Amino acid sequence: MTKKMWSGRFEEASSSLLEEFNGSLPFDKKLYREDIAGSIAHATMLREVGILSADDVEKIIVALKQVEQEIDNGEFEFKISDEDIHMAIESRITEIIGDAGKKLHTARSRNDQVALDFRLYVLRNNRKIINLLIKLQQTLIDMAKNNIDTLLPGMTHLQHAQPINFAYHILAYVSMFKRDIERFESSIERNNISPIGCAALAGTPHRIDRNITASLLDFKSPSINCLDTVSDRDFALEILFNISTLFVHISRFAEELIIWSSYEFKFVTFSDAYSTGSSIMPQKKNPDVAELLRGKSGRVFGNMISLLTVMKGLPLAYNKDMQEDKEGVFDSVETAIISLKILEKAIATLKVNRENMAKACKTGHLTATDLADYLVKICNVPFREAHHITGRAVAEADKLNIDLSEMGYKKLQEIDDRIGSDVDEVLSLKNSMNSRKSFGGTSQEQTIKQIEFFELWLSGLEIK
Ligand code: ARG
Repeated sequence: MTKKMWSGRFEEASSSLLEEFNGSLPFDKKLYREDIAGSIAHATMLREVGILSADDVEKIIVALKQVEQEIDNGEFEFKISDEDIHMAIESRITEIIGDAGKKLHTARSRNDQVALDFRLYVLRNNRKIINLLIKLQQTLIDMAKNNIDTLLPGMTHLQHAQPINFAYHILAYVSMFKRDIERFESSIERNNISPIGCAALAGTPHRIDRNITASLLDFKSPSINCLDTVSDRDFALEILFNISTLFVHISRFAEELIIWSSYEFKFVTFSDAYSTGSSIMPQKKNPDVAELLRGKSGRVFGNMISLLTVMKGLPLAYNKDMQEDKEGVFDSVETAIISLKILEKAIATLKVNRENMAKACKTGHLTATDLADYLVKICNVPFREAHHITGRAVAEADKLNIDLSEMGYKKLQEIDDRIGSDVDEVLSLKNSMNSRKSFGGTSQEQTIKQIEFFELWLSGLEIK
């Protein structure tokens, strides 16, 4: 029978099935660095306020650092009978230093301890995700800068709509990922408060100083209400939501890359290093990376729903249900990290097939709206009528098997004699794109402004 730290009132040993079901050690061992940093701060505070002697605290800290080394080096023996990472570390330091180790848990509970460790993990990984997003943004902006001149069919309903430039299309994703970065940042800002010292739920009669632990751990301040703090997992829900929204964006981008890399489009070519082959069809080069990026949104969304469901309806304060908070967060964080890394690499090595994009612009009458606008602006035709005339021009172009942009003013005059020779300029694909000069539009002038805007914003961000 292994003796549990909490076994004072128990007469029988735990069943091994209970240990397996109840324990979190197999997954919360990931939190060992946070747990040790938290314990060092807690012990230091206990010394500062005179609750523990300098001698004991010295021993505790040395032992905690030794345990960290042991775990780092894979020498630590994880025993499920210890239940979780908190007790595994505490029992090991007690093994090393004896009685001093038993004093570390003064004025704290595993409830504030796990709230601290998990929060530190989430804050650290918010930062890591931001850093990877910054790198991705730089790569996307570089791609945009190289493609201000690249015409692309802009689509709605996946049907040709109006000509845009490829830089502008890429900047739409830069704009989405900017919001993502801001969401991760604001989550750090909001959740940068220290739970340690809340103890089980109600604070502690020991004369601790929560400001000391908060500042040792780089928190803005200690949390204000302990009852809330020990059962607050909003920070975890936020990272799950923020990663989910990030994956809405990643999966949309991935979907476009998949379509663009198909034989029908051939707008882009993935480098061999980020493509896969088929075990049966020798000719295949598959966009597995993009497909997985699209597919991984499933697990990420699932993790969010899962924690929302765990947390809903829980009475205050800590309940063991909350041990179910970690695996989904670990999974989403790890998924986000590897996904952002590979997306950046796939983009940095992507070949943009400009000629194919330009060729695609010559189908689907992308400049039809320009003809209608021309009839309104130059010929004073009411918009509804202009729309109708343009529709007839499009039908005629289809009959002739040419694109409206190449029809020429003479044929157009046969449809409506108010049309002048100046219409050819208006219907050219490039002029059409460049005519959309309204703020935030696709013209090269506006696209360059957007690039400058995003670059300036990015230059103010630090990789920390
Ligand atoms: N392993 C637990 C968890 O992850 C730690 C907190 C346990 N607290 C308790 N009172 N049983 O949630």
